[in-house]
Amino acid sequence: PAQRDGMAPANPLIEAVTRLRDGGLVAFPTETVYGLGADARNPAAVARIFAAKGRPADHPLIVHLADAAQLRDWACEVPRVARRLARKFWPGPLTMILPRAAGVPDAVTGGLDTVALRVPAHPLALALLRAFDGGIAAPSANRYGRVSPTRAEHVREELGAAVDLVLDGGPCAVGIESTIVDVTGDRARILRPGPITKRQLMEVLGASFSPIPGGAVRAPGCEVSHYAPLARVVLTSGAQAVQVVEHWWALGMRVGLLSGWRPPTLEASVAWLSLPETGEEQARALYCRLREADHLGLDVLVAVLPPAIGLGLALRDRLRRAAGSGDVSAPVSRESATES
Ligand code: TXA
Ligand code: MG
Repeated sequence: PAQRDGMAPANPLIEAVTRLRDGGLVAFPTETVYGLGADARNPAAVARIFAAKGRPADHPLIVHLADAAQLRDWACEVPRVARRLARKFWPGPLTMILPRAAGVPDAVTGGLDTVALRVPAHPLALALLRAFDGGIAAPSANRYGRVSPTRAEHVREELGAAVDLVLDGGPCAVGIESTIVDVTGDRARILRPGPITKRQLMEVLGASFSPIPGGAVRAPGCEVSHYAPLARVVLTSGAQAVQVVEHWWALGMRVGLLSGWRPPTLEASVAWLSLPETGEEQARALYCRLREADHLGLDVLVAVLPPAIGLGLALRDRLRRAAGSGDVSAPVSRESATES
């Protein structure tokens, strides 16, 4: 019985492959966030990604691969560090920037001479990649600048009919986007902090690793305002949270507090959006909470920054971008400066 309602094939994976081969858009789960996928060798299909997201055309995409053996199809040169990182972290939430091979469309790389590559650790993503037997270009499946989707319904909510098919793989286990490491230079560099931490990278790379993220590097998607809910996001420390909430509340705003605990003196009309305890749990919950802020119609979301260690660095990065303050290394208040 391959048909449902006499129309839709019962196997979504087969339909997904057909759609991709026809130049369509297929949203699929990864362990980090949902991706909006197209055949990476098909410039017209890739162009549809940019149209669906409302993303500027010069922003490069990540090409997703089934395994590291495919590196050679997409990168003209694979340095030893890249092989080491692939062996250690793939499949997994690590994206590597490598010199691009001939034939990788400009539509994918935004005209750069490098390409971003990743093998995701999600059974459905890997099954799709194997069945498709090629690279799938996929940004996060959200509208440009908005919060990345961590559930299939977020994708439908946000992109609707612009997507031909959404593969539902349940909630994403990691919840924030992959760590991006540039391995094209003499020293590897983090372009976007993420689930694979600085410490984990240093264990593999040792002295050849430069831990300073960003700088003047062109890592688009690292715009000032990104991962942003509709509410204005205001960052604070735990010690100042109540004071900051009260400031906005007194101005007549609908205010929410995103924090690990509910201060007992918090006004009853202030929405408390709870964050769990560990960095891993916080990463998993963060984007759902930001979406909740929108569903509640909040004007202001006051967010307590997690400590700047381990996964906390990636969480702070996303919160800072949600707040529209892009400099990842700049302290936002005296309190948070002493934390880091
Ligand atoms: O976890 C993830 O990485 C998710 C899932 C779907 O894999 N994808 C994701 O894609 O976050 P996106 O497009 O939202 O973010 C990819 C980032 C962008 O900031 C982009 O500028 C950067 O990767 N990027 C892509 N190619 C690049 C290149 N050649 N050089 C520098 N940065 C690049
Ligand atoms: Mg994105």
